[in-house]
Amino acid sequence: MRIPRIVGGAVALAVLGAAGFTAIAWRSGIEPIDPPASASFDPVQVAEGARLAAIGNCMQCHTAPDGKPFAGGYPLKTPFGTIFGTNITPDPETGIGSWSEAAFQRAMAEGVDRAGSHLYPGFPYDHFTKVTERDNRALYAFLMTREPVAADAPPNQLPWPLTFRPLLAGWKLLFLETGEFRPDPSKPEDWNRGAYLVEGLSHCGACHTPRNALGAEEKDKSFGGGESDGWHAPALNQASTAPVPWTKDSLYSYLRTGVSADHAVASGPMAPVVRNLSRVPDTDVQAIATYVADRMGAREAPADPPTPAAEAPRQPEGRAATIYRGACATCHDANGPLQFASPVGLDRATSLAQPDPRNAIQVILHGVETPDAKAAPLMPGFANALTNAQVADLAAYLRTRFTGQPVWDDLEAEVGRARTGDSSE
Ligand code: HEC
Ligand code: HEC
Ligand code: HEC
Repeated sequence: MRIPRIVGGAVALAVLGAAGFTAIAWRSGIEPIDPPASASFDPVQVAEGARLAAIGNCMQCHTAPDGKPFAGGYPLKTPFGTIFGTNITPDPETGIGSWSEAAFQRAMAEGVDRAGSHLYPGFPYDHFTKVTERDNRALYAFLMTREPVAADAPPNQLPWPLTFRPLLAGWKLLFLETGEFRPDPSKPEDWNRGAYLVEGLSHCGACHTPRNALGAEEKDKSFGGGESDGWHAPALNQASTAPVPWTKDSLYSYLRTGVSADHAVASGPMAPVVRNLSRVPDTDVQAIATYVADRMGAREAPADPPTPAAEAPRQPEGRAATIYRGACATCHDANGPLQFASPVGLDRATSLAQPDPRNAIQVILHGVETPDAKAAPLMPGFANALTNAQVADLAAYLRTRFTGQPVWDDLEAEVGRARTGDSSE
């Protein structure tokens, strides 16, 4: 009988396939250790680890809102569900206290935990794999000398079958390229330093590169603009729509102080990135700016310099213009009272020039949290003062008045999504 034989063959193949898959999906555990004494680590190495942890934003994803540092519980929202940053304090039961340095190295380089389970790529090991062994040793020394905190992260909120971790072996086979960063000998030293940090520990692409349907970064669209937590992370390559092209100096000032007078104030998910970079040596921030400026390439300057807001002549009058004059112009018009003046003219504001309206909406709803309170005044949020329709009208008005580009589509629905924090679309 033919049919059963074919079915039998298919079953045999499936069994073989599953066995092969299990072989790659299965990773051995690494023996637990007793937590090493803090005094066994070199303080110089611990201090180096602290700077590296700041560059890697480890604290951000591994600390719950109002929680103890590194004790886990931060909800990382992904299009697939919420994954919680784990406890990476040296608590032996709930943290990584029983992890040897080799287990930590493997987690960073391959995304596998001490017991051998695959980790979700929400932990950006697709970037951390580029980190050198030496830097991982310093990170390990830093983490193992933190205060141990007993705390379990809440269970991840993922649909079946994504809860089945061996499937991640398939994801890795398709998308993960492991291996330390290799410098490009034809480039200067600070370019290579910048490339090492940006592509590796700083994982800038985790937000600034678009992802495919399986959540992997699209390598051929590297830095083409991605997203994070309901915000658009603008393109950092030649597709940048900033009205004034970014330069090494303006990138440096933005990353060092959170403000570039010709572009923007770092808000939303970019604010903690800048706050963390404030703990990093100047040479490293310079190197990051050098590399990103090079990736952006030389862009043609816009044919006409942007028109200063105060000189914009005939404005469509209407509800939005009235709200703008009453609630916004004190800070945003060039002749507003100086102590409140926004450091960035809206004609240069990158959020209004982007193809995606989400950042402008987020700012109007939730205001601007300055990374460095000394550097710039705050903008209050208007979520409670304005309806969705009013925010949508304002966004459309600003877009027309300050960029002259076509108004974004579907604004009111977008405002609704920004309000509820539903970024799934
Ligand atoms: C973008 C968010 C994010 C950043 C930044 C991040 N992590 Fe994580 N990390 C996670 C998530 C989420 C998990 C849990 C993954 C899982 O459950 O599979 C995790 C897991 C880990 C684990 C495995 C722990 C365990 O108990 O299995 C280690 C170790 C770790 N991270 C270290 C670090 C270090 C060191 C840094 C900074 C260099 C860092 N992480 C930065 C999100 C992040
Ligand atoms: C957690 C996600 C995330 C990470 C990681 C991240 N960014 Fe951003 N970045 C954003 C978001 C969101 C914005 C938009 C913020 C705004 O408009 O205020 C942004 C804005 C920017 C801008 C302004 C671009 C423009 O045209 O307005 C620059 C430059 C930038 N990021 C560079 C970097 C660099 C360099 C790194 C790595 C060191 C990095 N970012 C890491 C999310 C991120
Ligand atoms: C108290 C002063 C103040 C008020 C009032 C205010 N803003 Fe702002 N706004 C700022 C500051 C400061 C910034 C950050 C600098 C910047 O990015 O322009 C900002 C940023 C923005 C941005 C983002 C620009 C970018 O960087 O891409 C938009 C859009 C914006 N404001 C719109 C509004 C609207 C609409 C209103 C009224 C409903 C308003 N603002 C009221 C101070 C203010």
